[in-house]
Amino acid sequence: MSINRILIATTNKGKLREFKELFKELEVEIISLEDFEEKIEVVEDRLTFLENAIKKAKEYALFYNIPTIAEDAGLEIEELGGFPGVYSARFFAFKEFGGEEPIQESADRANIMKVLRLMEGKENRRARFVSNVVFYNPDNFGLWTEGYLYGRIAEKPQGEKGFGYDPIFIPEGYSVTLAQLDIEEKNRISHRGKAVRKLLELLKKILK
Ligand code: IMP
Repeated sequence: MSINRILIATTNKGKLREFKELFKELEVEIISLEDFEEKIEVVEDRLTFLENAIKKAKEYALFYNIPTIAEDAGLEIEELGGFPGVYSARFFAFKEFGGEEPIQESADRANIMKVLRLMEGKENRRARFVSNVVFYNPDNFGLWTEGYLYGRIAEKPQGEKGFGYDPIFIPEGYSVTLAQLDIEEKNRISHRGKAVRKLLELLKKILK
């Protein structure tokens, strides 16, 4: 298979930054949804990360006719029965579990405030990040990988780097949050880093 361009199907700037860093070693041009004027909306309405990632990769690949990588990721908290899970991006607005959290600064901040509210006084703070990454070629060939990062929910937000729930996630073996780590170190240990490195190994075998 010969490929010279891959679309990373995300509009999340934090994610895109991490993907670009991880794909440096692959000699293909990386483009993102921002590079297209014509936009389509793909609704992430499935109940698993994998189904959402497959849906995104396929719909964008077929619409733009370009090999596409899509990811669905999220935070699973043991004490909350796996929530926010597939609702991670808009957990603040998810009324059915824990009620709505008003946005004051940003959606990311509101998500964090909601998690901290639900976790107040809880002893079991175990959590994990999950990443499912799907590569889909419009000629109907696909690959899927996943990665996990285990850790715990901090008592309060700390750090300015990263995105999403990074300021309240302390990886196993660390005493600081993900938002206090440089991008290289986060990618080295993260769910996304692990899933993408597995995908890179597979892609290197088929891209000649
Ligand atoms: P997605 O774009 O549907 O995959 O949404 C993923 C959501 O999960 C993001 O908006 C973040 O809230 C959260 N998330 C996923 N990966 C990370 C990460 O590496 N750090 C912090 N939050 C993350």
